[in-house]
Amino acid sequence: MANIYETERLKDEYLLFHYGKPEQIHSWGGGPDRALDFPKRIVERFSLGDVSRALDLGCAVGRSAFEMSRAAEEVVAIDYSHSFVEAGKVMQEHGRCEVSRLNEGKMLDSVHVEVPADAYPSRIKFEQGNAMDLRKDLGEFDRVLAANLLCRLGDPSLLLARLPGLVKVGGELVLTTPCTWLEEFTPSNYWPPGDTLEWLKMELGGYFELLEEHDEPFLIRETARKFQWTVALLTKWRRI
Ligand SMILES: C[S@@+](CC[C@H](N)C(=O)[O-])C[C@H]1O[C@@H](n2cnc3c(N)ncnc32)[C@H](O)[C@@H]1O
Repeated sequence: MANIYETERLKDEYLLFHYGKPEQIHSWGGGPDRALDFPKRIVERFSLGDVSRALDLGCAVGRSAFEMSRAAEEVVAIDYSHSFVEAGKVMQEHGRCEVSRLNEGKMLDSVHVEVPADAYPSRIKFEQGNAMDLRKDLGEFDRVLAANLLCRLGDPSLLLARLPGLVKVGGELVLTTPCTWLEEFTPSNYWPPGDTLEWLKMELGGYFELLEEHDEPFLIRETARKFQWTVALLTKWRRI
């Protein structure tokens, strides 16, 4: 199956999702504004303070990496999609880009999106890579984020097994997942045997202390009148 995350359509949807201003995403009073700015909100779950190294796994077009750059001297941002990684690099180099929005049918318009003004683009290293087979010399990090990645992996347990080696003792891990387990991404024999939260506790519990868990909604614009409103389960962990 072709990788949907390599398509122009998804690249534009994600650029708008990550960097779009509220009025570029929807134009209705009473819309689900609490679901906007997801990549920023989830990075705000890390404890306050400056750190040395941060890792954004499944970074897509990069907004969370820019958010992490405010408090980390170095941010490594990895995604499997060449197209998404290139878009992240364009945002890093130019600070903005033009995004095509699908309104209806084949009708498009375009808007400009921008990197947050107070981020530190030069601290970020975008690279293409596979979260199930990360390069051995990545080293350890003070903060690791993997947002909405687990249920897009062929075998998520490969990433869970690697996480203890990626997070420094005392460092923090934020995982989010909408728990949308689908055969097209993950064969069902690799799905959690039951509830995703219980599975995470079982897989990570020996290496991490669970600090918090709560729900974080997000909104992805498909057309002017159609949106995905989804609620991710967010868990925050400290490496012990
Ligand atoms: C649902 S999106 C989430 C993106 C972003 N973290 C966010 O919260 O908006 C899933 C992302 O995981 C990436 N991905 C899928 N399989 C991957 C893999 N094996 N290694 C790294 N990234 C992968 C996709 O390219 C896509 O960017």
